[in-house]
Amino acid sequence: MLEKTFFMIKPDGVARGLENEVFSRVEKAELKILLKRLIFLTEELAKALYLPHFGKPFYAGLIKFITSGPVIVSLLEGEDAINKVRLLMGATDPRSAGKGTIRGDLKEENILSPEGIMKNIVHGSDGAESARRELAIFFKEKWNEN
Ligand code: RTP
Ligand code: MG
Repeated sequence: MLEKTFFMIKPDGVARGLENEVFSRVEKAELKILLKRLIFLTEELAKALYLPHFGKPFYAGLIKFITSGPVIVSLLEGEDAINKVRLLMGATDPRSAGKGTIRGDLKEENILSPEGIMKNIVHGSDGAESARRELAIFFKEKWNEN
């Protein structure tokens, strides 16, 4: 099914200059980049994005880490885009992410941020409902569900 999904390079990936490497993998997977921009996440945006993690032990650290530097947010479209992006990304913990995945191939030696959060380079929506919710947060003026 043709789908849209939200995809982001986190502050660690931007700081390491991985934009071209990451988006060339996205394009090789036949995903179209419909929109892309570099922004600083305000605390408000960060909290909206990670609302489902509110109350978890790593929540405060995660908000701090994700607002620690600029990120690149994007709207991707393609066949089976949501699952395709999750496969491209690899496991949440880069130490267990497979070969050929972004998190596996591009991981840093020191995996933890100063806040104790796993620096895993990228974020992608984990399902259809998340994709709708997250795209509405970042691209509401340029995207509607139809
Ligand atoms: P993301 O949302 O960032 O794309 O990552 P994900 O789906 O692979 O992982 P998720 O479970 O949504 O967690 C969001 C981010 O929180 C940090 N985390 N730390 N210490 C922990 O057990 C733990 N669990 C999650 C990670 O930085 C993860 O990317
Ligand atoms: Mg997630």
